Amino acid sequence: MTQTPLVETANRLVTSGRGLLAMDESNGTCNKRFATSGIPQTLEERRAWRELLITTPAIGTCISGAILYDETIHQTDEQGTSFVELLISADILPGIKVDTGATPMAGHPDEKITDGLDGLRERLQIYQKMGAVFAKWRAVIALGAGLPTRACIEANAHALARYAALCQEIGIVPVVEPEVLMDGDHTIEQCRVATKEVLHTVFEQLYRQGVLLEGMVLKPNMILPGLACAEQDSVEVVAEINLRTLHEVVPASVPGIAFLSGGQSGELASARLNHMNIIARTLREPLPWKLTFSFARALQMPALTIWHGNPSCKAAAQSALHHRACCNLAALQGDYTPAMEQEHA
Ligand code: 13P
Repeated sequence: MTQTPLVETANRLVTSGRGLLAMDESNGTCNKRFATSGIPQTLEERRAWRELLITTPAIGTCISGAILYDETIHQTDEQGTSFVELLISADILPGIKVDTGATPMAGHPDEKITDGLDGLRERLQIYQKMGAVFAKWRAVIALGAGLPTRACIEANAHALARYAALCQEIGIVPVVEPEVLMDGDHTIEQCRVATKEVLHTVFEQLYRQGVLLEGMVLKPNMILPGLACAEQDSVEVVAEINLRTLHEVVPASVPGIAFLSGGQSGELASARLNHMNIIARTLREPLPWKLTFSFARALQMPALTIWHGNPSCKAAAQSALHHRACCNLAALQGDYTPAMEQEHA
């Protein structure tokens, strides 16, 4: 197969034995997280937080790509070096979130459609000039009585495929993120059925829009019971169901699957990813795609709590981020153990 720049970038993101750091929270989401930690919700605090993440010592040994937000890609560190330059010098590929958020879907109460296709070609060109080599678009799918509807799944899958085609047109790798939400009391089986249908529809649409599967990354939810479900399945069960389902629906030409964390704790996200890679080691045939992470909360939250906007806590917060990144790096080899948490405590 020809290694086009698109395919090379997609492979650099997922096959270097590292994962992605999602730091592309919209201002609204970032401010909400700041509010819970008592951090002022200002442009300068958001900039300082993102500088802390990007300048974490040795973070590039664990992270292959970082997803920025529009505000963040325009920012610099205190000395005036752009965040994009800082990422590149840390051996991290710069990426950008390009959807403009999920809005209520007309005629479908409790469901959302992701916006951002208008003017996307032009925005992608601007981001590419600024150094972005990959771009992310997130669709959200809610689970519940009668949900998700086919209308919601199809509309979001169609938008994901159109965004992915626009990215590839100019050589940007799409990181395609259909997220079945963890909110609710649904069982893992209900999540499995919905996730399978969503992924199936997404790949059908990607095929229809002519998206090169070798030049993209899939960023799905892990298949999990809802946060309010009485039965929380073991790490072993979760790993087995995820691998089986992904095998059923994700074509082998996709180079990598980078999970979002979706509200799991950092420890659980590492343990579940780890167990999938443990099972992978026992298979007769290697997995057709790499399994990695593209976490936001599961990487950032412990560090955010430690920092809480206090400059004197910066080094401790960076150490906490580095620790979570190292745990996930180990999980990619199936080498993560809960003892790693004790060593850092
Ligand atoms: P979480 O890992 O916090 O789910 O975030 C991933 C992400 O990129 C959300 O769009």
